[in-house]
Amino acid sequence: MTILESIESVRSSFRADLDSFLTDQREIEQLRSKYFGRKGLLADLYNEMANLDADEKPNAGQAINALKKELQGEFDRSYSKNVSHNKNVHSDQVDLTLPGIHFQNGSIHPLQQTLDEIKGIFKSVGFKVAYGPEVEDDYHNFQALNIPKHHPARDMQDTFFVEDNIVLRTHTSNVQVHLMEESDPPLRFIVPGRVYRNEAVSYKSYCLFHQIEGLVVDKHVSMSDLKGILVYFVKRFFGEETKMRFRPSFFPFTEPSAEVDIWDEKREKWMEILGCGMVDPNVFENVGYDPNEWHGYAFGMGIERMAMLKYSIDDIRLFYQNDIRFLEQF
Ligand code: PHE
Repeated sequence: MTILESIESVRSSFRADLDSFLTDQREIEQLRSKYFGRKGLLADLYNEMANLDADEKPNAGQAINALKKELQGEFDRSYSKNVSHNKNVHSDQVDLTLPGIHFQNGSIHPLQQTLDEIKGIFKSVGFKVAYGPEVEDDYHNFQALNIPKHHPARDMQDTFFVEDNIVLRTHTSNVQVHLMEESDPPLRFIVPGRVYRNEAVSYKSYCLFHQIEGLVVDKHVSMSDLKGILVYFVKRFFGEETKMRFRPSFFPFTEPSAEVDIWDEKREKWMEILGCGMVDPNVFENVGYDPNEWHGYAFGMGIERMAMLKYSIDDIRLFYQNDIRFLEQF
C-alpha cells in the first residue's frame, strides 16, 4: 500500500466509524484514541511517513496534516451534536444527591522525597550535584578506586556484568573517578544515582537501589571536616537528638575509612547508614592529582536505607511495587 492509499483507508474507516458513532462516553473515547491517540491511526501514518524517501515526505506530510484537520473537524462536530443531544435527553435525570467523583491525586515517590531532602541539605552547605554513568567499565567502578582484579574486596559488591570489563555500577563511587579525571581540584560534589548488585532479593536488599556519593577535594581537608559534615547532615535529616557513632571500617578507596551508625529507637539497635573516609592517595595518583598537595574525603549512603530508617519502613521491596496503599502514605 502506498502512503496515499493508507491515508484513504484511514479516512474511509473513520467515516464508517463515525456513522455508528453513539452517544456513549466510552465509545466516544474509544473512537478518539483509535484515531487521535498517541498510538492511533493518525500517529501510525506519521510513522509510516518517516520511512519514505526524502522527496516524498513533503507531499505525504501535507496530505496527513490535511486529513488530521478534516477528521478532527468532523469528530468535533459530531461530538458536540451528540453530547448536546445527550444532555437534553438526560437533563431531568441528574441526581444531585449522588456523592461526587473522587479523583486520586498523585504524590511524589518517597524515594524522590528522600533524595530531594538529602540534596537540599548538602546544597545548603555548598555542594554541587553531579551525575555519572550507570553502565561502567571495570576501571572506573573498581580499578581506579584501588580495587584490582581478583581483589577480595570485590566480594563486598556482587556485580552484574554487561560484557567482560563492562558492569552495571555497584556504587556511585565510580563518579568520584570521573569527576577527578574531568576537572581540577578543588571539588565539592554530591552524586545521586542508581546502583546495581546481584544479591538475593529480600526485605533488606534489592537488585537495584540508590546511593548518594559525596566527594570533597581541597588543600586542607581533614577527617574532622568529614565528621563535621556528616554530624551536621545526620542531625538535619534525622533530627537534632539523633545518636550517631563513627566506627572504623575498610574501603579500598579511602584510608582511614569509617562507617556511621545511628541509634534506631524503634528497633533498639545501631543501624549502619553510610560508608566514608579520606580519599586514598592511590586514587589521587590514578586520576593524576598530587597526593602531597591535595586531600579529600568521600562518603556514600543508600537512599532506600535512609528512607527506611526515617519513615520506619521495614521492607525495601515496597519502594518498587508501586502499591497505592503504600505510596499514598507519603
Ligand atoms: N562505595 C561504598 C559502598 O557502596 C561507600 C563509600 C563511598 C565508602 C565513599 C567510602 C567512601 O559501600
